[in-house]
Amino acid sequence: MPVTIHDLREWRARDERFAMVTAYDAGTARILDDAGIPVLLVGDSLAQVVLGYPTTLPVTLDEMLHHARAVARGAKNALLVGDLPFGTYHASESDAITNAVAFLQAGMHSVKLEGHRPALVSALTRQGIPVMGHLGLTPQHVHAFGGYRVQGRGDQAETVLRAAVDLQEAGAFAVVLECVPAALGARITEALDVPTIGIGAGPGTSAQVLVLHDLLGLTAGPAPRFVKRYADMGADIATAVQAFAKEVAEGAYPAAGHVYD
Ligand code: KIV
Repeated sequence: MPVTIHDLREWRARDERFAMVTAYDAGTARILDDAGIPVLLVGDSLAQVVLGYPTTLPVTLDEMLHHARAVARGAKNALLVGDLPFGTYHASESDAITNAVAFLQAGMHSVKLEGHRPALVSALTRQGIPVMGHLGLTPQHVHAFGGYRVQGRGDQAETVLRAAVDLQEAGAFAVVLECVPAALGARITEALDVPTIGIGAGPGTSAQVLVLHDLLGLTAGPAPRFVKRYADMGADIATAVQAFAKEVAEGAYPAAGHVYD
């Protein structure tokens, strides 16, 4: 059965935790969907983990839509969330609506946008476009924050809490909380009726999200503290291609079973 935003509301009401994972192509979307992951995010992390940009800022709407279409072709049941990239909802409400419509036409069921923008969330929801909010360390604000730093410490906690309540009141169906102290993640979750989806926000949120490449061990270099690697696929890929190259060099591949008479 396809997952809808109403299922998320029910899970929240029943305190049933769930997972969201990022997806960027049809093949992995199919695997994640078949594995029962209920929510897939075509995140603008695409910029870094797939396209090799240093931040999420350079990825364009067209690049995001190209990958959103692929994910929509691969997934059958998951609720699909398209991440509005930097610059596509900043200039005007009408830009934001046009760009969010493009995501829904690409097969997404909802969009996500970063920051405290209740007026925009309510403008989009009035058009029938479900919106997921995103607060805390919102990576599109990396230069304003002066780096990837934990947000919501000390006096900032009240500001993040109020922003989350504003987004819920504006109609957001869920709110991502990124890199905030665990106590704040739990406090915001208590204060909201809609699910909170944490990434570096501690165990007290209603759901958790990870970037697929981080959880599979496909990203290079040191990972943020909140990342747990559930596989070491980077190493597995290297081992597999080295084995292939070695067998080619030795003449062991292709063997008799791999050839046509
Ligand atoms: O782009 C992304 O992958 C995200 C998640 C980290 C929430 O926004």
